[in-house]
Amino acid sequence: MTPTLAVEDLSVDYTVTDRGGLWPRRRQVPALRRIGFEIEPGETLGLVGESGSGKTTAGRAILRRVETSGGRILFRGTDITHASGPALRRLRAEMQLILQDPFTSLNPRMRIADIVGEPLLVHRRAASRAEMRDRVAALLEKVGLPADSGARFPHAFSGGQLQRVGIARALALRPGLVVADEPVSALDVSVRAQVVNLMQDIQRQEGLSYLFIAHDLAVVRHISHRVAILYGGCMMEIAGRDAIYDNPRHPYTEALLSAVPVPDPPAQRLRRRSAPPAAAPDMAQPNAGCVYAARCPRATGHCRAEAPPLAEIAPGHRVACWHPL
Ligand SMILES: Nc1ncnc2c1ncn2[C@@H]1O[C@H](COP(=O)(O)OP(=O)(O)OP(=O)(O)O)[C@@H](O)[C@H]1O
Ligand SMILES: [Mg+2]
Repeated sequence: MTPTLAVEDLSVDYTVTDRGGLWPRRRQVPALRRIGFEIEPGETLGLVGESGSGKTTAGRAILRRVETSGGRILFRGTDITHASGPALRRLRAEMQLILQDPFTSLNPRMRIADIVGEPLLVHRRAASRAEMRDRVAALLEKVGLPADSGARFPHAFSGGQLQRVGIARALALRPGLVVADEPVSALDVSVRAQVVNLMQDIQRQEGLSYLFIAHDLAVVRHISHRVAILYGGCMMEIAGRDAIYDNPRHPYTEALLSAVPVPDPPAQRLRRRSAPPAAAPDMAQPNAGCVYAARCPRATGHCRAEAPPLAEIAPGHRVACWHPL
């Protein structure tokens, strides 16, 4: 079966401008280094890694919202790395994004029916006003919102309800792939499970694929079929969900899973903003070795000299480490 998405050796560099000296200087900072994975139809790949590891960049590169500097992206077997014009427009319908904060990602001045129906209008998928009304009503029902929600504005809804609106909008064009970038992190713990369960139900009905980005390791375990671990823009490990959680082979994965969780995401965000981890990799100074070597208790001279390839250590379980657990 052709995977919904295949990512091969994908790299992204951001151009940053230093304004410290007399003249501004532009330089390239790597954010993703040759990452690769596949997502099958109906499958959820969880993407995990600490702040700045490149998760959002990966999602945006796949959706063709940020330029890639190397590698290939294949959607249903077609190379879309450099798609443009009408082809890119078609892709925009097939691959959708759900963002973290429904309060800022939905236009507060639009009625819910128009928010959900806008993609149908933009991509000319509804022949008439009446058809659009029916399609929007069906979508609202699918995500568990009352039928009369369409006439109301976003401020009348809770965060969980608004995230349902965001999901309905993302589903309007029946996409094959949805990139969900921390879709429940901004929600109350009590409604997180409902939204995650809704996403799972929809996946079972529609057979779509998810790239599910999150910090909450329990949520990722719940929804993912397989999990990929990013660190410093590099893939550290990828395997089936239970293999990752019960039998991690990369020292970084083990450290990540054993770290004391911070249950409150706003507090976590604040902490991340104010105090970046001192030992986080300096992305501007890539060296030849493993990106995790400086923090790794198992690191040897070999690790500092040569980056380990992502190698299959057991069926379906790949690890980038010279000294796996
Ligand atoms: N627009 C940009 N310009 C320059 N650098 C950027 C830009 N966006 C992200 N970066 C850098 O790229 C790296 C990866 O960022 P990214 O946002 O993908 O990480 P993330 O894993 O999504 O983090 P978080 O968990 O905080 O959302 C970071 O070093 C970040 O500072
Ligand atoms: Mg992010």
